[in-house]
Amino acid sequence: MKKIMKIAAMLTLIALCAVMVISCGKTETPKDTAAPAPDTTAAPGTAAPAPDTAGADDNVIVMCTNASFPPYEFVENGEITGIDAEIAAKIAEKLGMTLKIEDMEFSALIPAVQSGLADFAMAGMTVNEERLQSVNFSTSYATGVQVVIIPEGSDIASLDDLNGKKIGVQLATTGDIYATDDYGEENVEEYATGNDAVLALTQGKVDAVIIDNEPAKAYVAANEGLTILSTEYAVEDYAIAIAKENTELLDKVNAALAELIDDGVVTEIVNKYIG
Ligand code: ARG
Repeated sequence: MKKIMKIAAMLTLIALCAVMVISCGKTETPKDTAAPAPDTTAAPGTAAPAPDTAGADDNVIVMCTNASFPPYEFVENGEITGIDAEIAAKIAEKLGMTLKIEDMEFSALIPAVQSGLADFAMAGMTVNEERLQSVNFSTSYATGVQVVIIPEGSDIASLDDLNGKKIGVQLATTGDIYATDDYGEENVEEYATGNDAVLALTQGKVDAVIIDNEPAKAYVAANEGLTILSTEYAVEDYAIAIAKENTELLDKVNAALAELIDDGVVTEIVNKYIG
């Protein structure tokens, strides 16, 4: 990578770190650690991307993610694992490269890909029109469904009942976008992670959480007294985000993904995590 690109990447990194510090400061971090889903929270210090830049080492491919999203990505024994991490490792293997995973805020993922800090983002990320303005997406490798988590015995029985209620979401996710559109910005509380949003729900700070179905199941399993509304809010496709100009990588990733899907490897990995 040319020197000027490195400097640009470093500046972006500094800006991203500043954003992270600011947004962390805004996030409510209650002292009592009420039942987070097991092993989903990154250890302190793992949230900031290491100052490696994608392409710095020709044989290393850098993936960025937000590892508080089980079963797609979560931290176990200090390591990022899950469906996305495993599929990414298989893709890297096919490309003859070593995979390196950087954990960061969800809202930092697309900027990281655009600036070249990461080669790709894989984070249970939904393909949508707005994101397609900024990055390209691979073919889809999974389906996600936005669902509503509520406390057991809640008077919320339908999507309509969410009107006027406080809704917790993870910042910059599609759940955040839809909830803001449908129920009004003033009714939506944004949290840095899905885990933080669910924690707020268990503490009665919000009435419901809108999040993807598989993480929702993991959070409900890990926290007493929560349940998922049977109505699905939105159905979406997950794909890998790659910089617009990096069409070479997009082609390679799509080719690798097609083989992994055909060979049943993707299904095998998904089945390992989703019963
Ligand atoms: N599918 C949703 C979106 O793309 C949420 C993804 C959140 N992923 C994460 N790793 N925290 O907006």
